[in-house]
Amino acid sequence: ECGHCPLGLQGNGTHCEDEDETMYPCKDVCVTQCVNTDPGFYCLPCPPRYKGSQPYGLGLQEAQKIKQVCVCEPYNPCKDNTHTCHRFADCLYLGLASEVLYKCVCAVGFAGDGFLCGEDSDLDGWPNKRLTCKQNDNCPMLPNSGQEDLDQDGQGDACDPDDDNDDITDERDNCPLVYNPRQFDSDRDGVGDRCDNCPFESNPLQTDTDGNGEGDACSIDIDGDDVLNDRDNCPLVYNTDQRDTDLDGVGDQCDNCPLLHNPLQRDSDSDLVGDMCDNNEDIDEDGLQNSLDNCPYIANSNQADHDNDGKGDACDHDDDNDGIPDDRDNCRLVPNKDQLDSDGDGSGDACFDDFDNDSIPDALDPCPLNQDIGSTDFRKYQVVLLDPKGTTQSDPLWVIRSQGTELLQTANSDPGIALGYDKFSSVDFSVTFYVNTNRDDDYAGIVFAYQSSRRFYVVMWKQVSQAYWEKKPFKAFGTAGVSIKLVNSTTGPGEYLRNSLWHTGNTRHQVRTLWHDPNKIGWKDYTAYRMHLIHRPKTGFIRVVVYEGRNILSDSGAVYDHTLAGGRLGLFVFSQEHVLFSDLRYECRGKTTFPPVGVVIRVEQIRL
Ligand SMILES: *[C@@H]1O[C@H](CO)[C@@H](O)[C@H](O)[C@H]1NC(C)=O
Ligand SMILES: *[C@@H]1O[C@H](CO)[C@@H](O)[C@H](O)[C@H]1NC(C)=O
Repeated sequence: ECGHCPLGLQGNGTHCEDEDETMYPCKDVCVTQCVNTDPGFYCLPCPPRYKGSQPYGLGLQEAQKIKQVCVCEPYNPCKDNTHTCHRFADCLYLGLASEVLYKCVCAVGFAGDGFLCGEDSDLDGWPNKRLTCKQNDNCPMLPNSGQEDLDQDGQGDACDPDDDNDDITDERDNCPLVYNPRQFDSDRDGVGDRCDNCPFESNPLQTDTDGNGEGDACSIDIDGDDVLNDRDNCPLVYNTDQRDTDLDGVGDQCDNCPLLHNPLQRDSDSDLVGDMCDNNEDIDEDGLQNSLDNCPYIANSNQADHDNDGKGDACDHDDDNDGIPDDRDNCRLVPNKDQLDSDGDGSGDACFDDFDNDSIPDALDPCPLNQDIGSTDFRKYQVVLLDPKGTTQSDPLWVIRSQGTELLQTANSDPGIALGYDKFSSVDFSVTFYVNTNRDDDYAGIVFAYQSSRRFYVVMWKQVSQAYWEKKPFKAFGTAGVSIKLVNSTTGPGEYLRNSLWHTGNTRHQVRTLWHDPNKIGWKDYTAYRMHLIHRPKTGFIRVVVYEGRNILSDSGAVYDHTLAGGRLGLFVFSQEHVLFSDLRYECRGKTTFPPVGVVIRVEQIRL
């Protein structure tokens, strides 16, 4: 005796044939189309840009129980694991507005193009061994993100004892990068004639503001604006118009109070606003006082204002002034009245692949929503001295390399900051940290949300626990390990702030320690670390992770503080010489309306 036909077939048992499940109202089963098979059925995959189930089954009964669900969730190769990133890379989703959808970034400890990543022992962004996509590191054990190699002998300058092959070792060579075996130095400034931009005028720092090869010390027109220094009301800033609204002898272009007579230009809190017009009343705590803030009531430290109408994007309903309100504009930052969108992806043609129209494609742009920032760049920096008067130690000495992505601090100095000029709200900042000496055991780190020399956050790392030798104005004790501190100082730079910075803990009216590594792990000499900072001012979220090689050495986890809603980034030293900050990288982050659909999602791959 024959039993029932199997599921998906119908008949009397002797004879069974395929049941056509698609006879059941198809729309009740599949959003797309149901396909009949022998036996069974299945739904076609969700339409492009929709994600969901793709049900299948056997027989009418099953078909009645099944429902395909397709939701308009943007296709995300990072989430779906359909990306082609290397297994040692992170996949970074860029959104539908971008042609490439995602980018791959080699994980900490690796370097390459993201599709191929090789080990990178010194964490400077160059792989130890050559990859097809990237040259090998010419100093594999010493960070040198610029890979400078003057004599092109395959050994980078950073680890080549004689860069210019003149048989005088770099340490003793007065022109380490110029062949000069005879070492003439007419002005005795320590810089040899062959490489001195003022050979007959002592200028050890070699400052050359207009970059024309002639040092400021011997130039009659430092900024190259054709107005000679002694008649130029901004000798260091190019200003052909020489406008000086407040008639204080300082041109508007370089006047820290352009509308108020202040010939002395005092700026005691180093926030680039002169004391005369600096009231530090800042309701939204974004570092710009109300009178100078283009959105006084909404924190927008970056002050982005794409249509230059004086109203910051953060409080402007039409950022590009094209008459189409931001929430309906398919190119929020680029004027496009026509709203042309040929491929119908929701992102207008005018901003396709370059949302802020700064000519840097979104995939390469560290700040795709801000045309003011197109690369990590510390070539221009402001020096902030945190104990300028005392003679306890000298001031820091900074050397910039690799197009402003590598800084070397050489002196054993008082606390100080090399401060970049770009301004940030939400930001990620990564730095390779390397101390290239076995002398000393003190502090180095990074500064973020810098608003003035009285208000900033600092991540500082001490090698060994130690009391500060200067016991006045009070005894300070620094504990080994990474600290995150809030500086909110009533006095500003000076001995109080200096000792408070040294101290691990809280000091009244000066510094609050938000987190200190309970494991008290100090840094080691000649060792590369990657320091990664995440700051989200909107929620007050702060997190610092330090990697040694690929491994996490120290992790603050979530730390919350709302005091400072953003500001500038910088590098910090205190009494530690030969600190190398390499492969610097900052990236704007945050849930803004980019990409137009969804949010930038970072998906960490599971690593073996
Ligand atoms: C985008 O920027 C370029 C200059 O880089 C400019 O010529 C062009 O007009 C801008 N596009 C729009 C739509 O404003
Ligand atoms: C920062 O300092 C100011 C002025 O001394 C004070 O009013 C404010 O409460 C301080 N903020 C924090 C979070 O300590």
